[in-house]
Amino acid sequence: MKKLIIIMAAAMLVACSADKNKQNSENMKEQVVLENIQTRTSIRQFTGEKILQEHVDKLLHAAMSAPSAINRQPWAFVVVTDQQLLDQMGEAMPNCRCNNGAAVAFVMCGDMTKAIDGDMQGFWIHDVSAATENLLLAAHAMGLGAVWTGVYPRMERVKMVQDFLSLPEHIIPLCIVPVGVPAEQPAVKDKYNAEIIHYNKW
Ligand SMILES: Cc1cc2nc3c(=O)[nH]c(=O)nc-3n(C[C@H](O)[C@H](O)[C@H](O)COP(=O)(O)O)c2cc1C
Repeated sequence: MKKLIIIMAAAMLVACSADKNKQNSENMKEQVVLENIQTRTSIRQFTGEKILQEHVDKLLHAAMSAPSAINRQPWAFVVVTDQQLLDQMGEAMPNCRCNNGAAVAFVMCGDMTKAIDGDMQGFWIHDVSAATENLLLAAHAMGLGAVWTGVYPRMERVKMVQDFLSLPEHIIPLCIVPVGVPAEQPAVKDKYNAEIIHYNKW
């Protein structure tokens, strides 16, 4: 009987400590994820260093982990690594920051053959935006710099990107994200504003 009590007490101790460890690791995960979100800033100057294919693959995995309306995943990505092409795109579209030492640019596209038909078609923009934010956060977590640069709905930019990359008609570029080793460290912007929060009704 005494032996049984000792065994049960030991088991309870082990269970308690496992619970505590789980709680600690959950807290740590929360802290790391929130800090990554809150310290991301747009990086527009890069050192010109190349990045590993492994990094490119991780960023694409992060992008494709995004949610999408009825899980259509109506996205497609063009990864631009060719330096001459990056320079040409940067010169033609200075807003896209492709010629500031970026190692690579991800052209984040919507695939209209996968987008929902009818009045829900516009959800492709939300879906590709979610993929873009995932990519930005993953780049930041990996110590890389990146910036979201807008293409759609500026139709002259859409046309330029379609021409540069020989995109088929059903592929619409939403934005371009140059990525590289950061050559600047802009201050983090605190955008929290309690005044724009409304509970239940406006
Ligand atoms: C839809 C969209 C379009 C943007 N277009 C550009 C752009 O063309 N060029 C650029 O340098 N930054 C662009 N940005 C980045 C914003 O300027 C930047 O996110 C904003 O100033 C806030 O700064 P932060 O990203 O450092 O928090 C764009 C961001 C979004 C979401």
